[in-house]
Amino acid sequence: MSGLDGFLARVDARAAERLHSIRDARRAARRRLPTVVFDYVDGAADDEVTLRRNEDAFRAVTFRPEMASGIVEPALGVTVLGNAVDFPVLLAPCGLTRLIHADGPSGVARAAASRGTVSVLSTVAGSPVEAVVAESGAPLWFQLYAAGGLDEADQLCDRAAAAGVEVLVVTVDTPTIGNRERDVRNGVSPPLRIDAHNAVPLGVQVLARPRWAAQLAATGIRLSGRGAGPPGRGGGLLSSVASPFSWDDLVHLRKRWHGSFVVKGILSGADARRAVESGADAVIVSNHGGRQLDGAPATLDALPGVVAAVGGDAQVLLDGGVRRGAHVVAALALGARAVLIGRPYLFGLAAAGERGVERVLDILRAEMRRTMVLMGCPSVERLGPDWLEAPRP
Ligand SMILES: Cc1cc2nc3c(=O)[nH]c(=O)nc-3n(C[C@H](O)[C@H](O)[C@H](O)COP(=O)(O)O)c2cc1C
Repeated sequence: MSGLDGFLARVDARAAERLHSIRDARRAARRRLPTVVFDYVDGAADDEVTLRRNEDAFRAVTFRPEMASGIVEPALGVTVLGNAVDFPVLLAPCGLTRLIHADGPSGVARAAASRGTVSVLSTVAGSPVEAVVAESGAPLWFQLYAAGGLDEADQLCDRAAAAGVEVLVVTVDTPTIGNRERDVRNGVSPPLRIDAHNAVPLGVQVLARPRWAAQLAATGIRLSGRGAGPPGRGGGLLSSVASPFSWDDLVHLRKRWHGSFVVKGILSGADARRAVESGADAVIVSNHGGRQLDGAPATLDALPGVVAAVGGDAQVLLDGGVRRGAHVVAALALGARAVLIGRPYLFGLAAAGERGVERVLDILRAEMRRTMVLMGCPSVERLGPDWLEAPRP
C-alpha cells in the first residue's frame, strides 16, 4: 500500500466510525461527493414521488409488540436461494460504484462478505464481473442489462457463469431510462457523459471535493471517454443503459442460465406470476428506488399482492426505501424473505469506502436486532402480518 493509499484508508476508517445512522451516511456522502455524483446517487425520476412513497410506506408501519418475552438474541439469519446470510439485507445492483469511491464494486462485495451477506453486481457497475470476482474473492450475484440485445445478454450470462456466479438477476423495469431531472439539470444526461458543455461547472465541483478527487485519481479512473465504462453500448463511465426485455427473452435466458434465476422490478401479482411462469426462482419487488416510473407504487405497498400471487412458488425479495433495521422487520412481516438496499450502502461507500459499506450493514443489523428484541420476536422465521397493526382505511 502506498503512502497516499494508507492515508486514505485511515481517513475512511475514521469517517466510518462517525456514522450512526443511514441519515448520517447520506449527510457525509453529500459532503464528500461532487454535486453531480451525489445527485446521481440520491436522485430519482421526475418529481421523485415514488422515491418518497417508498420511504413513507415504511414510516406508516405500526408494530404490535409483545412484552416480557425474555428474547435478547433473536435469530436474524435466513437462506436466500440456497445462500445462508447472517441477516436478511443484501446489497442491490448499482451502476457506477467505481465513480463513488475507488473501492468500487470489489470493495462493496468484500464488505458484504465480511458481514455475512452478498452483493449483486450491476452490469454497469464500472468493473467487469471477472475482475470483481478475482479482486474480492467474495460470492457475488450478477444483474443483467443488455442494451445490445439478446446476443449481448447471452455473452454476459456466459461470462458471469464462467466467473463462478450462481445467481442471475434480470432487471425488467428499464425499457428506457427514467427522467432523472437532477442529472439533466447537472448537464450529464442522457447519455450521462461529460463533454465540452458541462466540463467547466463539473470541474469546479470536483476541485471543491479534493478527497474524492484524490482517491479517484489514485485508481486512474477517467470521468468519461470510450473504453472506460461497462461492456455494451455507451462506453463512457457515466453512461446509462436502457434494456427492454420481453417475457420471451426471460424464458430464453432462464433456459441458458443453469443457476438460480431472479426477476427484479416486479410491482404486481400478475407480473410476479408471469415471472414465475418464465422460470424465476425469486422475484424482487422493486421500482428501481423510484428512478424509473414516477408514480409507481411504494414497494412495501406492492409486497402483499406479490406474496399472495407467488409466495408459495418463489422467494419474494424487496428493495426501495429501506433506511432502518425496523424497515427490514416490517418487510419480512409482510412476507419478504429478505430486502436489498441501494442508496444506503452507496452513501456509506461515498463516506468511507469499503469501511463505510461495512458500517452501514452494522448499523442496519444492530437496529434490526434491537427492533426484534423490543417487539419480543424470537426469530425472523416467526415474523408475519400479526406483528403489525392493520393499516388504517
Ligand atoms: C445510483 C444507483 C444506481 C443503480 N443502478 C442500478 C443498476 O445498474 N441495475 C439495477 O437493476 N438497479 C439499479 N439501481 C436500483 C437498485 O438496484 C435498487 O433497486 C434501488 O436502489 C433500491 O432503492 P433504495 O436506493 O431506496 O434502497 C440503482 C440505484 C441507484 C441509487
